[in-house]
Order: sequence, then structure tokens, then C-alpha cells
Amino acid sequence: MTQVTLHQLSQTYPQANLPAVHRLNLTLPTGQITALLGPSGCGKTTVLKMIAGLVEPTEGDIQFSGKSVLNLLAERRGAVMVFQSHLLFPYMSVGENVGFGLKMRGVDAATVRRRVATMLEWVQLGGLENRRPKQLSGGQQQRVALARALIVEPQVLLLDEPLSNLDAHLRGEMRDLILTIQRKLAITTIFVTHDQEEAMLMADQIALMFVGRLQQFAPPRDFYERPVSVGVARFFGGVNFIPATKHGLQLETPLGILHSLPHTLPDGPVMLTIRPENLNIKPHGPTPPAGSNIVLATIQQQLYLGTHVRFTVQANNLILEVVAEPRQVDQFRLGQTVHLEFPALQIWLLPMP
Ligand SMILES: Nc1ncnc2c1ncn2[C@@H]1O[C@H](COP(=O)(O)OP(=O)(O)OP(=O)(O)O)[C@@H](O)[C@H]1O
Ligand SMILES: [Mg+2]
Repeated sequence: MTQVTLHQLSQTYPQANLPAVHRLNLTLPTGQITALLGPSGCGKTTVLKMIAGLVEPTEGDIQFSGKSVLNLLAERRGAVMVFQSHLLFPYMSVGENVGFGLKMRGVDAATVRRRVATMLEWVQLGGLENRRPKQLSGGQQQRVALARALIVEPQVLLLDEPLSNLDAHLRGEMRDLILTIQRKLAITTIFVTHDQEEAMLMADQIALMFVGRLQQFAPPRDFYERPVSVGVARFFGGVNFIPATKHGLQLETPLGILHSLPHTLPDGPVMLTIRPENLNIKPHGPTPPAGSNIVLATIQQQLYLGTHVRFTVQANNLILEVVAEPRQVDQFRLGQTVHLEFPALQIWLLPMP
């Protein structure tokens, strides 16, 4: 199994003012799926192409299990890339497309035929060897592209948005197929996507990039619970941001003093964040609820979404979002004053941007 290490990996395309990828340092866990996530144009495809050997880095190193592969040609690296738009050979049959890599490596025809048949079974296209790519659906073509990549038994599998051209139903199927095959073969895999939910569903680790730079590399859960910046939190759907001044466990905010658990950020200005589902909304009764970290707020809007209800509330001059149980929709009306509880455990602090 191959460990992939990127060291200060950079790419500035000719005539470009800004680097497409800037000093990327990453060690990809062996045999796992890493999602390379980020908005369009942030450099994801460029990273894959450099690993595959299709684009030469302008700076930095790429190592497979501790050895630099920069001097190896693409076909000798043992990394295969499945492209964003699957480029099948239109005049070859499905079988010839899938077997192409083996034929190029001089494998005998009988073995190629046997392996092609097995691969097509794996991607659930058994018996379609003789079709042409244009006689297949988009989802089937994508599976042919996957089979064509896997047949050469790569050490590293590079998937560039393999689900982007599929409808919701096929996406789910293809996702399951990739996960099953990846688990079976335990190939070190990089899965590029700009969809955070897809990254959560597929990956053991996520590397999030903005404009060519790595922002955070961590297990999916950390992006919800421990984002490193306001930008990362926003990319993962964070909406509640409250400026604060940290004094130990005390946070001075426009909503009053709130208390947090110990946090590694130094005292001083910080940005407090809390996920909408972690805020608790309670009726404002004659006796205030017990406990601390409770502020007054007014209901501005409520959206019933079946599985949950989303409240927009105003506290002081801040607008916050709260997600609650669907039955809570009946407990509150617009304009009502409520208590909003910030559980200390769920408060997370970010550097002030
Ligand atoms: N061959 C090239 N020559 C010059 N600039 C390029 C080239 N390929 C990509 N770029 C630029 O480099 C940046 C990163 O492109 P890249 O294709 O890696 O982004 P991406 O994250 O894969 O985007 P998307 O999600 O849209 O596929 C973009 O600004 C793009 O315009
Ligand atoms: Mg791309």
C-alpha cells in the first residue's frame, strides 16, 4: 500500500499571476479515501494532475512511500486518474476501452479478456463488452472509466469529480460502488469534489483548499465541530458568528458574558461560533431557566422543513439561526421573546478574520 506525501507542492501556470496551487503539504493516509474539497478553480484538478504526472510542479516534491516520483513518467508512477469528463475512446468498444491499459503493458490477449470481464462485473456492466461508449448512459460511461482505471491495479487512484455528471439516484449508486471497490482493494484514493456533503459521505479525511492553499486537513467531523477559520466554518454551512473578547473561559460578547470550555486560542478578540442545531430555544417564562449562557432573543422567522424547523432570531443586533425539533414550531410565534441557550460544550472559537 502506498503513502502519498506532497511537500511544498506548487503550480504556477505560464502567464498566470497567481499560483493555482501554493505550497501544499499533505500526507495522505495509506489505503484510505481523502477528499480534496474546495470551490471551483481552487486548484483541485491541478493537484491531481501533478500527482498523476500530467503536469510538472513548479516547486515542491511528490513522494510515494517515501520516494520522489517527480522523475517518473506518468505511466510508470502507478497512479491513475479518472477525469472530470470521462474521456473514453469513442471508436473502441467498452471491452477495448477497459483493456487498453493492460494491452499497452504487453499483457496477452486471453488474460486481458479475462480481466476485462472481471472488471466489468465489478462495475456492474457485465456483458456490455461489445458496446461503443456512445451506446451507454452517462452513468455507465463513468463506470467504464472507473473500470479502465482499476484494471491496471494502480497504487494510487485519483478520481476527479467522478459523480458530477450523474443525477441524484445514479450518484448514490456510483458512490456506493466506489466505496465498495476502494474498501476491497484498499487503494490510496483521492476523491475530488466541490460538494461538502459528498466529501463527508465518501472520505476518511478531507483536505479543504481555497484559492490554491490548504485550509484544513482533518476527519470530516472536525469541519463541523472544530473548523480552523470563519471561511472553513462558512464553507461547511456555519452561519452563526458572534464577535467576542476572550478572557480565559469568559467571552465578552454583544449578547453579554458567555462561558466556554478551555480553548487553545489566546485571550483577546475572537469569533464565537455555534451550529444552529446546538442552540436551544426555550419559551420566556416568568422564571428564567436555570443555568448560564442564556440570552434573550426575538423570533423573526420560522421555516418548517418536515424533519426540523429553522428559526431566525434576533439577539441584540445579531441575527442567528436555530434548528429545532419539528414539533417546536407550534411553541413559538413570530415576534415572541425567547430564551436562547448556548451550551458551553458546543461553543467553538475562531481567530478573528
Ligand atoms: N492549463 C492551464 N493553464 C493556465 N491556467 C490553468 C490551467 N489549468 C487550470 N488553470 C487555472 O488554475 C486554477 C485552478 O484550476 P483547476 O482546474 O485546478 O481548479 P479546480 O479546483 O479543479 O476547479 P473545478 O472545480 O472548476 O474543476 C484556475 O484558476 C484555472 O483557471
Ligand atoms: Mg477540476
